[in-house]
Amino acid sequence: MRLDEIRLGVNIDHIATVRNARGTSYPDPLMAAKIVKEAGGDGITAHLREDRRHIVDQDISGLKQQNILPLNLEMAVTNEMQKIALDIVPNAVCLVPEKREERTTEGGLDVCKKISSLRSFIEPIKQKDIRVSLFIEPSEQQIDAAKSIGADIIELHTGYFCDLYEKNDKNYIEVIKTLEKAAKYAFKIGLEVHAGHGLTTESVGYISKICEIKELNIGHAIISDSIFMGLRGAIETMKQKIKEARF
Ligand code: PXP
Repeated sequence: MRLDEIRLGVNIDHIATVRNARGTSYPDPLMAAKIVKEAGGDGITAHLREDRRHIVDQDISGLKQQNILPLNLEMAVTNEMQKIALDIVPNAVCLVPEKREERTTEGGLDVCKKISSLRSFIEPIKQKDIRVSLFIEPSEQQIDAAKSIGADIIELHTGYFCDLYEKNDKNYIEVIKTLEKAAKYAFKIGLEVHAGHGLTTESVGYISKICEIKELNIGHAIISDSIFMGLRGAIETMKQKIKEARF
């Protein structure tokens, strides 16, 4: 298979986390989106949570209006979010499981358990030409279920791999194999494959080597690195690590 560059979607949620911590108007996620573009990022990812703990509705409409880069709206499967997506029309939505008490998205969406409700949930979204991505664990059953309801993309949850890698638990090698197998399977049955969650400049290379993966969505590590090297530097460094691993 030909190796193409992986797109990097930069998750800018934590720009809003910092802003909201003090209730100021800065740092501005829209300004961050402009820097993401200048630094070579390929897309903006933002998670509009039910509790609006970071990104808020105004950020999403600003990102869409200014159209700086393609917008991937992460959201829960709720009527409120469906209405917002149909109103804003982002380039893609990524459906995630969401629990109010979690710190970040834990685990993937259980598509197998919700086949018919998810199918009807995504139908009007697809009719607006918004691409639909499902954030799932690397399992063939989940991938088959995603395909059967008409998703365009699956995003493989890399959180478990990243947790093991950070703890230096060598079981991460097995998890990488599972992710690779899942990516190959999803690609073979015609789904576009993305991956993300918990990736850092140290762990990203393992995932970037999986040539079926077309896009990575990374937030926390990039925004953290930007404290020390600036947002532009953090994005350029991440892009470089991805490139080195892939080619
Ligand atoms: N992809 C999805 C679907 C997510 O929910 C998140 C976290 O919002 C990410 C990617 C990015 O994860 P991280 O911030 O750990 O890089």
